[in-house]
Amino acid sequence: MQIVLGKTAGFCFGVRNAVEKTEDELEKTNHVYCLGELVHNSRVTGDLEKRGAIFIDNIEDAKGKVIIRAHGEPLETYEKAKELGLEIVDLTCPKVLKIHDIANEYSNKGYYIILTGEETHPEVKGTIGFCNKCYIIKEENDIEGCIREFEESGLEKAILISQTTFKLEKFEYLSKILKEKLGDKLEIHQTICSATKLRQEETEKLSKQVDLMIIIGGKNSSNSTKLYEIAKKNCNNTFFVDSVEDLNIEEIKGFKSAGIMAGASTPQISIEEVIDKLKAL
Ligand code: F3S
Repeated sequence: MQIVLGKTAGFCFGVRNAVEKTEDELEKTNHVYCLGELVHNSRVTGDLEKRGAIFIDNIEDAKGKVIIRAHGEPLETYEKAKELGLEIVDLTCPKVLKIHDIANEYSNKGYYIILTGEETHPEVKGTIGFCNKCYIIKEENDIEGCIREFEESGLEKAILISQTTFKLEKFEYLSKILKEKLGDKLEIHQTICSATKLRQEETEKLSKQVDLMIIIGGKNSSNSTKLYEIAKKNCNNTFFVDSVEDLNIEEIKGFKSAGIMAGASTPQISIEEVIDKLKAL
Protein backbone atom coordinates (compact mmCIF):
# COMPACT_ATOMS: atom_id res chain seq x y z
CA MET A 1 0.00 0.00 0.00
CA GLN A 2 1.29 3.41 -0.95
CA ILE A 3 0.96 5.79 2.01
CA VAL A 4 0.83 9.56 1.57
CA LEU A 5 1.01 11.71 4.69
CA GLY A 6 -0.31 15.25 4.32
CA LYS A 7 2.42 17.86 4.83
CA THR A 8 0.12 19.94 7.01
CA ALA A 9 -1.02 17.06 9.25
CA GLY A 10 -0.72 17.53 13.01
CA PHE A 11 -0.09 20.32 15.52
CA CYS A 12 -0.56 23.85 14.24
CA PHE A 13 1.49 26.74 15.55
CA GLY A 14 -1.14 27.80 18.13
CA VAL A 15 -1.59 24.32 19.59
CA ARG A 16 2.14 23.59 19.69
CA ASN A 17 2.71 26.87 21.51
CA ALA A 18 -0.06 26.09 24.04
CA VAL A 19 1.21 22.58 24.74
CA GLU A 20 4.88 23.59 25.02
CA LYS A 21 4.19 26.59 27.28
CA THR A 22 1.99 24.42 29.51
CA GLU A 23 4.84 21.90 29.72
CA ASP A 24 7.19 24.77 30.67
CA GLU A 25 4.80 25.77 33.45
CA LEU A 26 4.70 22.19 34.69
CA GLU A 27 8.46 22.13 34.89
CA LYS A 28 8.42 25.13 37.22
CA THR A 29 5.77 23.73 39.52
CA ASN A 30 4.08 20.38 40.06
CA HIS A 31 0.61 21.60 39.13
CA VAL A 32 -1.07 24.26 37.04
CA TYR A 33 -4.73 25.14 36.47
CA CYS A 34 -5.95 25.23 32.92
CA LEU A 35 -9.33 26.70 32.06
CA GLY A 36 -11.08 24.14 29.81
CA GLU A 37 -9.49 21.33 27.83
CA LEU A 38 -6.15 22.69 26.56
CA VAL A 39 -6.58 21.04 23.16
CA HIS A 40 -9.29 18.80 21.76
CA ASN A 41 -7.25 15.64 22.04
CA SER A 42 -7.63 13.26 24.98
CA ARG A 43 -4.14 11.80 24.56
CA VAL A 44 -2.49 15.20 24.87
CA THR A 45 -4.65 16.34 27.77
CA GLY A 46 -4.31 12.96 29.52
CA ASP A 47 -0.54 13.22 29.33
CA LEU A 48 -0.54 16.77 30.70
CA GLU A 49 -2.89 15.71 33.48
CA LYS A 50 -0.44 13.01 34.55
CA ARG A 51 2.24 15.69 34.75
CA GLY A 52 0.13 17.95 36.96
CA ALA A 53 -2.23 19.94 34.77
CA ILE A 54 -5.62 20.46 36.42
CA PHE A 55 -8.40 21.13 33.92
CA ILE A 56 -11.21 23.23 35.33
CA ASP A 57 -14.43 24.55 33.82
CA ASN A 58 -14.91 27.38 36.27
CA ILE A 59 -12.23 30.01 36.82
CA GLU A 60 -13.29 30.28 40.47
CA ASP A 61 -11.74 26.82 41.00
CA ALA A 62 -8.24 28.10 40.08
CA LYS A 63 -5.67 29.13 42.63
CA GLY A 64 -2.64 31.32 41.97
CA LYS A 65 -2.16 30.92 38.25
CA VAL A 66 -4.48 29.97 35.41
CA ILE A 67 -3.75 29.02 31.81
CA ILE A 68 -5.99 30.33 29.04
CA ARG A 69 -5.93 27.90 26.13
CA ALA A 70 -5.37 28.57 22.42
CA HIS A 71 -9.14 28.92 21.77
CA GLY A 72 -9.25 32.07 23.88
CA GLU A 73 -11.75 33.33 26.42
CA PRO A 74 -14.33 36.14 26.55
CA LEU A 75 -13.39 39.50 28.08
CA GLU A 76 -15.29 38.73 31.27
CA THR A 77 -12.90 35.83 32.06
CA TYR A 78 -9.97 38.27 32.16
CA GLU A 79 -11.98 40.58 34.42
CA LYS A 80 -12.93 37.70 36.69
CA ALA A 81 -9.29 36.52 36.92
CA LYS A 82 -8.27 40.02 37.97
CA GLU A 83 -11.02 40.13 40.57
CA LEU A 84 -9.85 36.76 41.96
CA GLY A 85 -6.22 37.91 42.00
CA LEU A 86 -5.13 35.20 39.56
CA GLU A 87 -2.05 35.39 37.39
CA ILE A 88 -2.97 34.64 33.78
CA VAL A 89 -0.78 32.64 31.40
CA ASP A 90 -2.50 33.65 28.20
CA LEU A 91 -1.89 31.03 25.50
CA THR A 92 -4.66 32.27 23.21
CA CYS A 93 -3.47 31.77 19.65
CA PRO A 94 -2.38 35.11 18.10
CA LYS A 95 -4.81 34.47 15.24
CA VAL A 96 -7.70 34.23 17.68
CA LEU A 97 -6.48 37.35 19.50
CA LYS A 98 -6.63 39.17 16.17
CA ILE A 99 -10.30 38.21 15.80
CA HIS A 100 -10.99 39.47 19.34
CA ASP A 101 -9.34 42.77 18.38
CA ILE A 102 -11.47 43.09 15.23
CA ALA A 103 -14.68 42.23 17.14
CA ASN A 104 -13.82 44.72 19.86
CA GLU A 105 -12.75 47.52 17.50
CA TYR A 106 -15.76 47.21 15.20
CA SER A 107 -18.21 46.86 18.08
CA ASN A 108 -16.84 50.12 19.47
CA LYS A 109 -17.29 51.71 16.06
CA GLY A 110 -20.99 50.73 16.16
CA TYR A 111 -20.90 47.73 13.84
CA TYR A 112 -23.08 44.65 14.12
CA ILE A 113 -20.85 41.56 14.16
CA ILE A 114 -21.79 38.52 12.08
CA LEU A 115 -19.67 35.50 12.90
CA THR A 116 -19.61 32.26 10.92
CA GLY A 117 -18.96 29.37 13.25
CA GLU A 118 -20.21 26.82 15.73
CA GLU A 119 -22.17 28.55 18.49
CA THR A 120 -21.08 26.05 21.14
CA HIS A 121 -17.37 26.10 20.25
CA PRO A 122 -15.14 27.68 22.92
CA GLU A 123 -13.43 29.94 20.40
CA VAL A 124 -16.79 31.34 19.25
CA LYS A 125 -17.94 31.82 22.86
CA GLY A 126 -14.71 33.75 23.48
CA THR A 127 -15.21 35.98 20.44
CA ILE A 128 -18.85 36.69 21.35
CA GLY A 129 -17.48 38.09 24.60
CA PHE A 130 -15.77 40.88 22.63
CA CYS A 131 -18.87 41.90 20.65
CA ASN A 132 -21.66 44.30 21.62
CA LYS A 133 -24.23 42.90 19.21
CA CYS A 134 -23.58 39.79 17.19
CA TYR A 135 -25.18 36.87 15.40
CA ILE A 136 -23.69 33.45 14.70
CA ILE A 137 -24.40 31.80 11.38
CA LYS A 138 -23.48 28.29 10.39
CA GLU A 139 -25.84 27.47 7.53
CA GLU A 140 -27.64 29.33 4.78
CA ASN A 141 -30.93 29.09 6.65
CA ASP A 142 -29.43 31.13 9.53
CA ILE A 143 -29.13 34.15 7.25
CA GLU A 144 -32.77 35.24 7.39
CA GLY A 145 -32.75 35.46 11.20
CA CYS A 146 -29.41 37.24 11.09
CA ILE A 147 -30.66 39.95 8.73
CA ARG A 148 -33.81 40.42 10.79
CA GLU A 149 -31.79 40.84 14.01
CA PHE A 150 -29.38 43.22 12.30
CA GLU A 151 -32.25 45.40 11.06
CA GLU A 152 -33.88 45.39 14.48
CA SER A 153 -30.57 46.27 16.18
CA GLY A 154 -30.75 49.82 14.86
CA LEU A 155 -27.11 49.59 13.71
CA GLU A 156 -26.30 50.67 10.17
CA LYS A 157 -23.21 48.67 9.38
CA ALA A 158 -22.19 45.06 9.83
CA ILE A 159 -18.94 43.15 9.59
CA LEU A 160 -18.61 39.48 8.76
CA ILE A 161 -15.81 37.53 10.44
CA SER A 162 -15.25 33.82 11.00
CA GLN A 163 -14.21 31.20 13.50
CA THR A 164 -10.60 30.28 12.60
CA THR A 165 -11.50 26.69 11.73
CA PHE A 166 -14.62 27.35 9.65
CA LYS A 167 -14.80 25.73 6.20
CA LEU A 168 -13.45 28.22 3.66
CA GLU A 169 -15.79 27.10 0.89
CA LYS A 170 -18.81 27.60 3.13
CA PHE A 171 -17.59 30.98 4.34
CA GLU A 172 -17.29 32.17 0.76
CA TYR A 173 -20.75 30.85 -0.06
CA LEU A 174 -22.39 32.48 2.98
CA SER A 175 -20.52 35.77 2.51
CA LYS A 176 -21.71 35.99 -1.09
CA ILE A 177 -25.36 35.63 -0.03
CA LEU A 178 -24.94 38.16 2.78
CA LYS A 179 -23.26 40.63 0.43
CA GLU A 180 -26.12 40.34 -2.04
CA LYS A 181 -28.61 41.11 0.72
CA LEU A 182 -26.71 43.80 2.64
CA GLY A 183 -24.61 45.43 -0.09
CA ASP A 184 -22.48 48.34 1.15
CA LYS A 185 -23.71 47.90 4.69
CA LEU A 186 -21.51 44.80 4.99
CA GLU A 187 -17.73 44.62 5.37
CA ILE A 188 -16.12 41.20 5.05
CA HIS A 189 -12.98 40.11 6.92
CA GLN A 190 -12.10 36.52 6.19
CA THR A 191 -10.45 35.39 9.44
CA ILE A 192 -10.08 31.67 8.79
CA CYS A 193 -6.64 30.60 9.97
CA SER A 194 -4.18 30.03 7.11
CA ALA A 195 -3.04 26.76 8.74
CA THR A 196 -6.67 25.57 8.63
CA LYS A 197 -7.08 26.76 5.06
CA LEU A 198 -3.92 24.96 3.86
CA ARG A 199 -4.88 21.79 5.68
CA GLN A 200 -8.36 21.81 4.14
CA GLU A 201 -6.96 22.44 0.67
CA GLU A 202 -4.43 19.64 1.04
CA THR A 203 -7.15 17.27 2.31
CA GLU A 204 -9.32 18.15 -0.68
CA LYS A 205 -6.48 17.41 -3.10
CA LEU A 206 -5.20 14.28 -1.39
CA SER A 207 -8.64 12.72 -0.99
CA LYS A 208 -9.11 12.90 -4.76
CA GLN A 209 -5.89 10.96 -5.38
CA VAL A 210 -6.12 7.97 -3.03
CA ASP A 211 -8.44 4.96 -2.50
CA LEU A 212 -8.46 5.26 1.27
CA MET A 213 -8.37 8.34 3.51
CA ILE A 214 -7.72 8.33 7.22
CA ILE A 215 -8.36 11.47 9.24
CA ILE A 216 -6.81 11.39 12.71
CA GLY A 217 -8.27 13.69 15.32
CA GLY A 218 -10.55 14.03 18.33
CA LYS A 219 -14.28 13.70 17.62
CA ASN A 220 -14.74 16.96 19.55
CA SER A 221 -12.18 18.75 17.35
CA SER A 222 -13.92 21.15 14.99
CA ASN A 223 -11.06 21.33 12.48
CA SER A 224 -10.64 17.51 12.35
CA THR A 225 -14.38 17.03 11.78
CA LYS A 226 -14.22 19.45 8.84
CA LEU A 227 -11.28 17.53 7.35
CA TYR A 228 -13.37 14.38 7.56
CA GLU A 229 -16.30 16.06 5.80
CA ILE A 230 -14.04 17.34 3.02
CA ALA A 231 -12.33 13.98 2.49
CA LYS A 232 -15.58 11.99 2.63
CA LYS A 233 -17.01 14.09 -0.20
CA ASN A 234 -14.18 12.93 -2.51
CA CYS A 235 -13.30 9.52 -1.15
CA ASN A 236 -16.00 7.07 -0.06
CA ASN A 237 -13.50 5.09 1.98
CA THR A 238 -12.74 7.81 4.50
CA PHE A 239 -12.34 6.93 8.18
CA PHE A 240 -12.21 9.34 11.11
CA VAL A 241 -10.17 7.93 14.01
CA ASP A 242 -9.01 9.33 17.30
CA SER A 243 -6.11 6.90 17.52
CA VAL A 244 -4.72 3.72 15.98
CA GLU A 245 -7.02 1.63 18.22
CA ASP A 246 -10.04 2.88 16.24
CA LEU A 247 -8.70 1.47 12.96
CA ASN A 248 -10.50 -1.64 11.84
CA ILE A 249 -8.12 -3.82 9.81
CA GLU A 250 -11.00 -5.44 7.91
CA GLU A 251 -12.15 -2.06 6.67
CA ILE A 252 -8.77 -0.72 5.59
CA LYS A 253 -7.07 -3.70 4.01
CA GLY A 254 -6.90 -4.29 0.26
CA PHE A 255 -6.48 -0.67 -0.83
CA LYS A 256 -3.66 0.39 -3.12
CA SER A 257 -3.11 3.88 -1.72
CA ALA A 258 -3.91 5.65 1.52
CA GLY A 259 -3.89 9.33 2.38
CA ILE A 260 -3.40 10.45 5.96
CA MET A 261 -4.39 13.78 7.41
CA ALA A 262 -4.58 14.89 11.01
CA GLY A 263 -6.22 17.79 12.82
CA ALA A 264 -4.41 20.69 14.44
CA SER A 265 -4.53 19.08 17.88
CA THR A 266 -3.35 15.61 16.87
CA PRO A 267 0.09 14.72 18.28
CA GLN A 268 2.84 13.28 16.09
CA ILE A 269 2.84 9.98 17.97
CA SER A 270 -0.81 9.29 16.99
CA ILE A 271 0.08 9.90 13.33
CA GLU A 272 3.15 7.63 13.49
CA GLU A 273 1.17 4.80 15.06
CA VAL A 274 -1.41 4.88 12.25
CA ILE A 275 1.35 4.89 9.62
CA ASP A 276 3.03 1.90 11.29
CA LYS A 277 -0.23 -0.03 11.27
CA LEU A 278 -0.79 0.68 7.57
CA LYS A 279 2.79 -0.31 6.78
CA ALA A 280 2.25 -3.60 8.57
CA LEU A 281 -0.58 -4.36 6.15
FE1 F3S B 1 -4.25 29.15 15.91
FE2 F3S B 1 -4.90 28.37 13.55
FE3 F3S B 1 -4.06 26.65 15.27
S1 F3S B 1 -6.00 29.79 14.81
S2 F3S B 1 -4.71 27.43 17.22
S3 F3S B 1 -2.85 28.32 14.38
S4 F3S B 1 -5.70 26.30 13.79
